[in-house]
Amino acid sequence: MEIAVVGSGYVGLVTGACLAQIGHKVTCIDINVEKINKLKKGLTPIYEPGLELMLKDLIKKKRISFSSSIKSGTKDAVAIFIAVGTPSKSNGEADLTYVENVAREIAENMHSYKLLVEKSTVPAETGYRIRRTVQMNLPKKYRKAGGSSSFNFDVASNPEFLREGSAIEDFMHPDRVVVGVESKKAEEIFREIYKPLKPRMIFTDLKSAELIKHASNSFLATKISFINSIAQVCDRVGADVLKVAEGMGYDKRIGRAFLDAGIGYGGSCFPKDVDAFVHLSHKSGYDFILLEAVRKVNEVQRRAFVRMIEDKLWIVKNKTIAVWGLSFKPNTDDMRSAAALDIIQTLQKEGANIKAFDPQAMVNAQELLPGVTMVKDMYCAVKGAHCLLALTEWAEFKTADFKKVYNLMQQPLIFDGRNMFAGHNLEKFGFEYYGIGRGLSK
Ligand code: UGA
Repeated sequence: MEIAVVGSGYVGLVTGACLAQIGHKVTCIDINVEKINKLKKGLTPIYEPGLELMLKDLIKKKRISFSSSIKSGTKDAVAIFIAVGTPSKSNGEADLTYVENVAREIAENMHSYKLLVEKSTVPAETGYRIRRTVQMNLPKKYRKAGGSSSFNFDVASNPEFLREGSAIEDFMHPDRVVVGVESKKAEEIFREIYKPLKPRMIFTDLKSAELIKHASNSFLATKISFINSIAQVCDRVGADVLKVAEGMGYDKRIGRAFLDAGIGYGGSCFPKDVDAFVHLSHKSGYDFILLEAVRKVNEVQRRAFVRMIEDKLWIVKNKTIAVWGLSFKPNTDDMRSAAALDIIQTLQKEGANIKAFDPQAMVNAQELLPGVTMVKDMYCAVKGAHCLLALTEWAEFKTADFKKVYNLMQQPLIFDGRNMFAGHNLEKFGFEYYGIGRGLSK
């Protein structure tokens, strides 16, 4: 099937590449000409494992192409996926300017049936608004009285559940594919699109599909804030959150996933989506106090980590602090709402010198953290340091040579914001070790 994907960010690129990989002919569109020119050469603007290789192969086989024009890029497409950014306004509400612009431009260039698919995370009722925008902006010769047109078009919602760092795997092996449709024809097109994956498909109305995405991300964020609250209690009563999570997780109704206590969730999705859902609920007349608490717990978690460092380090001013990991989670170079940003900035304000290493995110991080010295590997970071903060659980940190780390550091003090060294028994190397909710930080 001919498919166009508008917006070549994380979601758009992965979706476009994977749809091409399963046999469709895909055009990825982006307003940014420089990005499109790079993509044409097979260079990805983001780090996502496996993506660049896959794109290079698809370009060679002519199964994917790139364009900066909605007009030419959507001309032959039956389905057009909209995957543009939906940033937050200052009140938390999603800013849908890009979605509206794209819907209008698609309409202005529409001459036959198209299926417009919302892929970005959008508030319920966006589908209805896209439909109106398209109706009002179709070429005049196709418009008919009463808001109808001489040919049909459909709007659908097909939220993505991809995780950065494992997005390709998630696309190829989805737990479910959720689709909100308004017509049988749209449903048939989706069945055709996803047929090669043989997924469990959930068809709903448009608004329910939009809500499924918000509800899923909010629920996962709730799980994280819940276990982080448990971690706070564990620290105070001397229990171990890892054991608690294990004990809870074997209950099939609960599950162990997303019960990793740490310095809170970050990224481009959870913080923004929770804000947007709180706002959406409030606007619809319901105060979602549970989610407001989820958000607050996430902020508190980062502050509590800093307080622990201040307490154990005693004087922060002029101390050299080593940081391992900057991205909001491993296997990505994404720094959006990364816990490392808040934590490092607070310590810098108190006069600490920060030396940091991250396997992928240092270029992005340097722009956001100008005063931080980025170093070439994890051992350079700890040289002469008064303490080490482990902020992102990259696999290579887990196999570090801790004898070497001990010898390089000025003081043997480790704060593990992700409990990634929980099983390492770092005390035996001579370290004073503090994790999250291990009943040890008191
Ligand atoms: C999240 C969802 O998991 C995807 O299903 C969804 O498609 C995506 O948002 C989106 O809306 O686009 P992502 O933001 O890539 O994906 O990252 P996650 O793997 O979900 O992690 C989010 C944050 O939660 C990270 O900062 C991670 O460190 C943190 N986390 C996760 C915890 O602190 N504890 C956990 O147990 C799990």
